[in-house]
Amino acid sequence: MALRFTLFSRAVSTSVSNMNSIKHVTIIGGGLMGSGIAQVAAQSGQNVTLVDVNDDVLRNSKNGIEKSLQRIAKKLYKDKELEAKKFITDAVSRVSTSTKIKDAVKSTDLVVEAIVEKMEAKHKLFSDIDSVAPESTIFASNTSSLSVTEISSVTKRKDRFVGLHFFNPVPVMKLLEVIRTVDTSDDTYNKAMEWGKSVGKVPITCKDTPGFVVNRLLVPLLCEAVRMMERGDASARDIDTAMKLGAGYPMGPIELADFVGHDTTLSIVEGWHKKFPSNPLFEPLKSMQELVKQGKLGAKTGEGYYKYNK
Ligand code: 3HC
Repeated sequence: MALRFTLFSRAVSTSVSNMNSIKHVTIIGGGLMGSGIAQVAAQSGQNVTLVDVNDDVLRNSKNGIEKSLQRIAKKLYKDKELEAKKFITDAVSRVSTSTKIKDAVKSTDLVVEAIVEKMEAKHKLFSDIDSVAPESTIFASNTSSLSVTEISSVTKRKDRFVGLHFFNPVPVMKLLEVIRTVDTSDDTYNKAMEWGKSVGKVPITCKDTPGFVVNRLLVPLLCEAVRMMERGDASARDIDTAMKLGAGYPMGPIELADFVGHDTTLSIVEGWHKKFPSNPLFEPLKSMQELVKQGKLGAKTGEGYYKYNK
């Protein structure tokens, strides 16, 4: 309990680590992950530019950031209404938005990419910005399962490239996986670790392996739970209850699959299946493919294996 409290306090830390040399961050991709990353940087005192090609997405992102900050302020400042308000307005004012990717990276210390999990899209993005961003700018990808080495291969700054893998919901989950490729320099790695701490996360280091630490363990678990349900060994509810009460998970695996989003999980599994076709843990799930086909991506669309009130 004491450990949980300490970690949580760090996760909502509002102070910037003295060691952190990164003062301005550009986040590319205004979805759930990109907004969350922008939020934790802004609430830690850093200036952030959040970039997306779509203005509506950016408007939604800013709304989502404000709502999330309200939840955090409520906890941090309890009855101190003025301080809570200041915390929210200060953080929101540090986030600017842009639809012009090349302009947004012209003067920034760190770029964190959180766009669609497609290698071609990531390659296009990083090759576009490599010649425009300052030499000293560190590039990072929040990829959940693609090879960071392969993503960085289109740039001339492989030594200034790292994986920074956050977890959903970013403002709450305390972990940050820092993925070090064989090309990542000590200086880049150290700066990435310090930056992670400065935004209130607990960074761990991992090599550039499929799924890194968490997804390599978690995604097969989610898929195994769905296979168990499909075999009729137990109902979805009972599998979820079992893992919550029997293993202390905050969410059961099927609930969590809905929460993560079946588009995300399926793209991870299909990517691994292509690379490692004989591993039965990476066999794509028919029911998940069907849900994705029907647009039932989980909690975010109102239906996945369960139904939700939007
Ligand atoms: N912003 C700010 N605060 C938030 C929040 C958000 N977006 N979401 C939840 N919270 C806060 C709530 O305000 C609440 O605070 P309180 O305890 O002080 O009231 C606290 O978090 C708990 O939230 P809820 O009461 O709404 O609900 P739960 O107790 O069920 O917690 C949960 C929600 C934090 C999501 C919890 O169920 C959980 O930890 N689930 C597991 C999540 C997980 O495993 N994530 C990793 C997924 S894998 C991944 O992201 C990798 C990717 O590559 C696929």
